[in-house]
Amino acid sequence: MKISVIKGVGHYVPERVVTNHDLEKMMDTSDEWIVERTGIHERRFFDPETDTVANMSAKACKMAAERAGIAISDVDFIVLATITPDYFFPGSGVLLQRELGLEGIGALDVRNACSGFIYGVSVADQFIKTGMYKTILVVGAEIQSSAMEMTDRGRNVSVIFGDGAGAVVMQASDEEDKGVLSTHLHADGNFAEELYVKDPGSSRKERLTKDMLDGTSIRAYMNGNLVFKHAVVRFTEVIKEALAANGKEKEDIDLLITHQANLRISNYLQEKLALEPEKVYNNIMRYGNTTAASIPIAMSEAWQENKLKEGDLLCLAAFGSGFTWASTLIRW
Ligand code: ACO
Repeated sequence: MKISVIKGVGHYVPERVVTNHDLEKMMDTSDEWIVERTGIHERRFFDPETDTVANMSAKACKMAAERAGIAISDVDFIVLATITPDYFFPGSGVLLQRELGLEGIGALDVRNACSGFIYGVSVADQFIKTGMYKTILVVGAEIQSSAMEMTDRGRNVSVIFGDGAGAVVMQASDEEDKGVLSTHLHADGNFAEELYVKDPGSSRKERLTKDMLDGTSIRAYMNGNLVFKHAVVRFTEVIKEALAANGKEKEDIDLLITHQANLRISNYLQEKLALEPEKVYNNIMRYGNTTAASIPIAMSEAWQENKLKEGDLLCLAAFGSGFTWASTLIRW
């Protein structure tokens, strides 16, 4: 049976840097509050004139393909994870396919929020193992900033999120003890409304009303304390599940990249798992929480910084809206 290896990884973030001090001018917040609670110093906001989820994804894909040493035309399937698609429908996967000039190949959209990228890796891994596809682009991309309310009312959420895209090229290989060793996917829909955007939704008499626009239901709602409590438990569980499935110990991990939700969550995990700080990669300080994009952006930067080397055991883990949570172990 074929296995899937990550041949290349790339990312794109918009040029506009928005610092905590910039946010202080828009709402009643402070650099101190944001840094202490989240670890974030700045994030990137898209340019509505030029950036879309699809074209940011395309830029990340082109970087990943170049680093993989493949031509974009070699790609035979696309998986795009995003909860901020360019249109209500169709999904942005087809727009990315068009941007890349890959007319005809399949394009799948994944809407599993912060866990979306790992869900996407798992889907691609199954397709590669069954022999259905050979070269798959798995992408995480978000434009969160246009949904944020930059006022006092929206401050508990709007200071956290940012925009960006990351992508990997996954390819079939005959190598042994290499590539994706296992993936682990979970969900508990009982908590769907603890981190969500309610409107516009299909199960309302009218999808979008003036009341919705004036109110908060079109904005992200987050029960921050509850999310924190569940995140630390589920992250720990799902990392241990991946290690156990492969007969590995936490000491075997060379690099842990978690969904960049909040630096406090990441630091908690590093301490709980007793990993050396340099084995846990974080870049939330520079980009905020970019939902499905956060893991591939971090992978791309870790690779650039030579923190991800051939033979390394990489652990990816995510937790987010749904609730959903997921992990994978990858031999680089
Ligand atoms: N600036 C200043 N003050 C603020 C801000 C802000 N941006 N936002 C909220 N506050 C105030 C609140 O109004 C409240 O004031 P009060 O005590 O007078 O009522 C006070 O700060 C504390 O508010 P809490 O919501 O209780 O803040 P908390 O300490 O829980 O921190 C946070 C919020 C950072 C979101 C925290 O709950 C957390 O870390 N949650 C984990 C979830 C998370 O990280 N989510 C990220 C996205 S989801 C994901 O990716 C999984």
